[in-house]
Amino acid sequence: MTTTISATSPVGAVRTRVEARAKVTGAARYAADVPYDDLVHGWAVMSTIPHGRVRAVRADSVESMPGVVGVLHHGNAPRLNRAAGWRAPDGTLYILQDNEVPHAGWPVALVLAQTLEQARAAAEALIVEYDKQPFDVTFSSDHPGLETPEGSHPGPPLSVEHGDVEEELAASAVLVDQMYTTPEEHHVAIEPHAATARWEDGRLELVDANQGSFLTARILAELFFLDPAAVRVRSEHVGGGFGGKALVRPQAVLAAMAATVFTRTVRVVLSRRQVFTLTGYRSPTAQWIRLGADLDGRLRAIDHQSSSQTSTVLEFVEPTSAVTRVMYGSRALRATHKVVRLNVPSPRWMRAPGEAPGSFALESAMDELAIACGLDPIELRVRNEPSVAPGSRRPFTSRNLLSCLSEGARRFDWAARDPRPGIRRDGRWLTGTGMAAGTYPGDTNFATATATAEPDGGFTVRVAAADIGQGARTALTQIAAEALEVGTERVQLLIADSDFGPAILAGHSWGTASWGLAVTRAATALRQKTAHLRSIPTGGISVKVDTTQEVQAMGHPERHAYTAQFAEVAVDVGTGEVRVRRLLGTFAIGRVVNPLTVRSQLIGGMTMGLSMALHEAGYMDPAFGTHINADLAGYHIAAHADVPHIEVSWLDDEDLHNPTGIKGAGEIGIVGTAAAIANAVWHATGVRHRALPITPDRVLRPGSNAAK
Ligand code: MOS
Repeated sequence: MTTTISATSPVGAVRTRVEARAKVTGAARYAADVPYDDLVHGWAVMSTIPHGRVRAVRADSVESMPGVVGVLHHGNAPRLNRAAGWRAPDGTLYILQDNEVPHAGWPVALVLAQTLEQARAAAEALIVEYDKQPFDVTFSSDHPGLETPEGSHPGPPLSVEHGDVEEELAASAVLVDQMYTTPEEHHVAIEPHAATARWEDGRLELVDANQGSFLTARILAELFFLDPAAVRVRSEHVGGGFGGKALVRPQAVLAAMAATVFTRTVRVVLSRRQVFTLTGYRSPTAQWIRLGADLDGRLRAIDHQSSSQTSTVLEFVEPTSAVTRVMYGSRALRATHKVVRLNVPSPRWMRAPGEAPGSFALESAMDELAIACGLDPIELRVRNEPSVAPGSRRPFTSRNLLSCLSEGARRFDWAARDPRPGIRRDGRWLTGTGMAAGTYPGDTNFATATATAEPDGGFTVRVAAADIGQGARTALTQIAAEALEVGTERVQLLIADSDFGPAILAGHSWGTASWGLAVTRAATALRQKTAHLRSIPTGGISVKVDTTQEVQAMGHPERHAYTAQFAEVAVDVGTGEVRVRRLLGTFAIGRVVNPLTVRSQLIGGMTMGLSMALHEAGYMDPAFGTHINADLAGYHIAAHADVPHIEVSWLDDEDLHNPTGIKGAGEIGIVGTAAAIANAVWHATGVRHRALPITPDRVLRPGSNAAK
């Protein structure tokens, strides 16, 4: 297989989503849409205090309300397995097990009723008595509780140290020494989390909104002490995830518990406010960066010391060093992470976890270094191109950052830029341009695919992939068609059913490369097996392939996607408003299966990066310990009017370490965008913004920029 795209090859061709008609006509059923005859509705009751104990759940206060079926709480809920989780015990799943309240918005009960409205009314009327305890919800870079993480974390080691950072900094002619901060950010997938659970023929069956049906089923089986074969999870259509639906979230646990206790089909849909506190978010970060360089810009030292927050039930560490381990060469490199446990909801992966906030800090600091050295920021990056991966000191499987920089610069007309800040006026606007670079791993994980030749000449391919809006079903149809050497119209892809066998989730940009490899293997084997047959017998002929061993043999090399991003902004000096007038990204993302959906992924990531740069921040109320803006009125995300035409392009980027050549496009789009915009705001105004988001008040009062 090569990256050459022929006119007839299904892979590389523009295809609209195979389920597009079902989605726009409303025929596609999401987790809260699937009809059942005997359905009852559960509404979660969330703790109103940020820390303490539940003294009593007064079920009697609602039992006579219309339609109420029952109240689930820590006194009557099934006992769960505290060790359950993905790769490590997940304390966020251990709900209704005791009377401890770790944060506001923690589930303390589930009220069941005949209708959603009745359940909600009763949940709001339910009297819960608490004993409050002192709490702390305020993150800061100098919080006395910051400590080195205790647990092990997935992926490469969080922290890295090569060479003598202090010595190299001392020997540097040019120094950047700054603190950068990013706030709490939320996924805000448009479909709120929902699950429907029922027991059927001795199996726990769930329809659930998640990013990986197989692993969700596995974790639920573990959590409920069930045989893995006794749990089935389906998630045919999912309305966005961004990491917020990465595996099991409380709606699935609550629905499964209630289905078990009340022997009914139970649906739990979270409200938007509940999504904010129960399903994860990106932790705020404080990142102290020191760059030391010679006069010519060559880096002697990179020191990246990060802090983030977590809850008291889960140790989640925002892995900001992910970019620092990959981007630039230096004599000495150090990246460290500290975390503080607060009475806050549990943070989680959110699109490019680590890379998104990490690149804001590193790429802003590189811009400051370029200015200090009197160098063009692209030239600074070229001079610090590493020969091996800076973190692991292992070779890259492929590296295309410099091509992204030069191609992006050409498309943006970067060469025409006057580097001086604060000198371009357009009426009441000051304008400027900025750039940043980024990277995201191109990793592969396990999957199982079954390809079936049907007697009617069609093919069915089953893989427990998740289509969270990124277009997985369509891309996999194209990959299957190519391997089968037939047109896509003859291939039907069935996804998101845990019964299809082991498969990684839609996360870490694994999806297309990982499910695609399994689909390629199964479809190729089926083509070979059926090549000499005149007809396919009733029942069809199937080949099932599990890539676990192949993927293990591939190891974890330094395989990455790259991007260079460019922004033009206008800053209203009267109101402090920042408008992004132009955004351009050039990418090296391996083989592109479907230019239409990949383009959407990249534009979507950049839009989220624009939103991160200018708008998004979750705020906790230090007096009450609760969220101030946990809804779509208070949590501002970019709207259409905020987003300019976004230009994306990609390079030929052949890397057959994964034989499909695919690197993944889900997360790389957001990496670097916020820094490119912040760097453009500096170029427009001469004022450096080291705290996100760059809101009008911060633009008008640069003093309010001070990192907390
Ligand atoms: Mo993505 S944040 O790895 O689901």
